[in-house]
Amino acid sequence: MTSHPAPPAHDVLPPRYEWDGFGFDTRQVHAGETAEPGHNARITPVYLSAAYRFDSFAQAEGRFTGAEEGQLYSRNLNPTHQVAERRIASLEGGPGAIVVGSGQAAITAALLGLAGAGERIVATASIYSGTRILFDRSFARFGVGTDYVRDPRVADQWEAAITPQTKAIFVETIPNPKNDLVDIPAVAAIARRHGIPLVVDNTVATPYVSRPLADGADIVIHSSTKFLSGHGAALSGAIVDGGSFDWNASDRDYPGITDAPAPGKPSYVEAFGERAFEAYLRFGIVNDLGAALSPINSFLLQQGIETLSLRMERHLANAETVAAWLEGHPAVESVDFAGLPGNEYHDIAQRRFGGRAGSVFAFTVRGGRAGAETFFDGLQVFSRMTNIGDVRSMALHPATTTHVSFPADERERLGIGDGLIRLSIGIETVDDLIADLDQALGRVSA
Ligand SMILES: Cc1ncc(COP(=O)(O)O)c(C=O)c1O
Repeated sequence: MTSHPAPPAHDVLPPRYEWDGFGFDTRQVHAGETAEPGHNARITPVYLSAAYRFDSFAQAEGRFTGAEEGQLYSRNLNPTHQVAERRIASLEGGPGAIVVGSGQAAITAALLGLAGAGERIVATASIYSGTRILFDRSFARFGVGTDYVRDPRVADQWEAAITPQTKAIFVETIPNPKNDLVDIPAVAAIARRHGIPLVVDNTVATPYVSRPLADGADIVIHSSTKFLSGHGAALSGAIVDGGSFDWNASDRDYPGITDAPAPGKPSYVEAFGERAFEAYLRFGIVNDLGAALSPINSFLLQQGIETLSLRMERHLANAETVAAWLEGHPAVESVDFAGLPGNEYHDIAQRRFGGRAGSVFAFTVRGGRAGAETFFDGLQVFSRMTNIGDVRSMALHPATTTHVSFPADERERLGIGDGLIRLSIGIETVDDLIADLDQALGRVSA
């Protein structure tokens, strides 16, 4: 027979599961966890179950209507996802979030949740090339048009782009490759004045550097494939509902959120309050589009988030050192990094992000395309690859890759020259990164 130790004479406190008010580093490790009912597993398990058993007839109905929170089908909820969702919501400072299969899926779901055929989005022109292609190719085919703002610092450009059909404003906190930072509070003020939700892609900044919801944005999206995961092993995306947009008050009409989803049913606003947009995505758009995340990928995402702040500190420090070093190199024409004094976005970096500008930026090598090719082919520590934001350093030549389908005049307007190289600075020993860049640049000047 097993003998049990005597119970202690004092109370044994239960583990904590509420993390509101705790520090960022504590929340990135713990927020969102719930007690694991099976074996007390300390790490949230990978729940590989497409669907879930209902206890009763009444529970099945409650889960379908959303009246009862709980598992239903992994296309819109999964216990592994739930932890990642709560953790990302906690770090971004929103009441709720939903994870999906990729960053592109997050952007698609969030924006198609706001705009339909005949309606429009206003976006900054320098957003991630894949998002521009998504808007200009697929969204355009669906009848959702996009109006681009070239310089988000110029208020008149916003006023000219916004029309009565505009249903969403979309910007990135730190666009790449040009590191042309966006002043989120300034854009949020414009969006608020027009009663339009501001959607911010916070992929490159991460909530460690910038929290757009606190700056007046309404919805945050992530390609959590990037810094939130950090390992580069799996795609994922997230949408955080800021809970602040007054859907009923806007005269722009968001019927999917404010009207009854079925005769006699409450609207998402009535049923879910500040989490109306999240619920609308979960039970409506994301469920319809089927852009579900694999539970294995949300497990990997959670593992990554646990070390976000530590990795970001190294990313940020390495990027600053590398950018300053590149600026002084004779084979380098210019460096597009807002962390450098003299850069035209330096004041935004100072004012908004404590002088930091992420770790994805560009520089122009002398010799145009030939110089870029020689440099690129000489890299050994930096990986020649697309992707950003994982622990390893990566380089890419945008003009012949991410932006190759852009017309030449548009590439020129975006500053994507033939000698431009994009870097995503990893967490390696910075001297090794500089040595690699030095020897590759040496081949250009030789
Ligand atoms: C800023 C940004 N947003 C969204 C995406 C799309 O994300 P995903 O590749 O996870 O679909 C990317 C991908 O590079 C990105 O850099």
